[in-house]
Amino acid sequence: MELATCRAIIVGGASGMAKATAQRIVAAGGKVAILDRGQSAGAEVAKELGGTFHEVDVMDAEGTEIVINEAAEALGGISVSVNTAGGGVAKRTMSKDGPHPLDSFKFTIDLNLIGSFNVSRLAADHMSRNEPNEDGERGVIINTASIAAFEGQIGQVAYAAAKAGIVGMTFTMARDLGTLGIRVNAIAPSLFATGLTAGIPDEFEAALTKDAAFPKRMGRPDEFARMACQIIENPMLNAGTIRLDGGQRFAPK
Ligand SMILES: NC(=O)c1ccc[n+]([C@@H]2O[C@H](COP(=O)([O-])OP(=O)(O)OC[C@H]3O[C@@H](n4cnc5c(N)ncnc54)[C@H](O)[C@@H]3O)[C@@H](O)[C@H]2O)c1
Repeated sequence: MELATCRAIIVGGASGMAKATAQRIVAAGGKVAILDRGQSAGAEVAKELGGTFHEVDVMDAEGTEIVINEAAEALGGISVSVNTAGGGVAKRTMSKDGPHPLDSFKFTIDLNLIGSFNVSRLAADHMSRNEPNEDGERGVIINTASIAAFEGQIGQVAYAAAKAGIVGMTFTMARDLGTLGIRVNAIAPSLFATGLTAGIPDEFEAALTKDAAFPKRMGRPDEFARMACQIIENPMLNAGTIRLDGGQRFAPK
């Protein structure tokens, strides 16, 4: 799919990797709707990019459905969904305070896995109504996993489970949606310089990325954006989770 023809919902688009993706899509001539929380910089980012801002909390499933409908209306349909809304809690399965609280485990699954599934299924519904392009494509869905899905560190059990769920659903969702001409991929980043991690001092960055093959540094938001745009543009990229990690494998801690 050509970037210039994209009508993209960018969930988490007020900041970091999703914002960089929105910037690239708009620079190539596509249209974006920024979906993010009310307290985010989403309105400013949307204005800067000539798009619309739609306040959403992906933990609110019904609210998300309403907001995606509004975004589809503003864009004239949805052909691309990029979602980075997510995060985690740092807790071990068992610690001196007792077993991992179940509510924070459920919260992490809700935010990352259920949130991504909900956005994907609703976006797919809109995409299914698109006229296919000359390659038969109606849409592209991109979710955000993490290399913690494969080698979660100590204290990342909820986050690793949630991100592994995103990896797990990607292949099957691509099969489910293949007959509609909708592709589904996930990107699994290592540490990227976004949000809180953007302020990490150099010496900590060196320690946190010492296990990478090359480059031994955090990823940059635009490196995620380049991958997301390649997924959008390349029809053979489907059903996969692409590690974006400089060859890093997380150590146990
Ligand atoms: N930055 C990293 O090192 C890294 C590494 C691996 C995976 N990830 C994943 O990337 C995503 C975070 O993206 P980023 O690193 O660009 O961070 P970021 O903080 O710069 O951007 C995330 C955006 O998502 C929004 N968001 C968070 N919760 C939301 C909710 N409930 N509803 C709607 N919007 C919400 C935030 O307001 C923010 O604008 C997460 O899914 C995270 O697990 C990040």
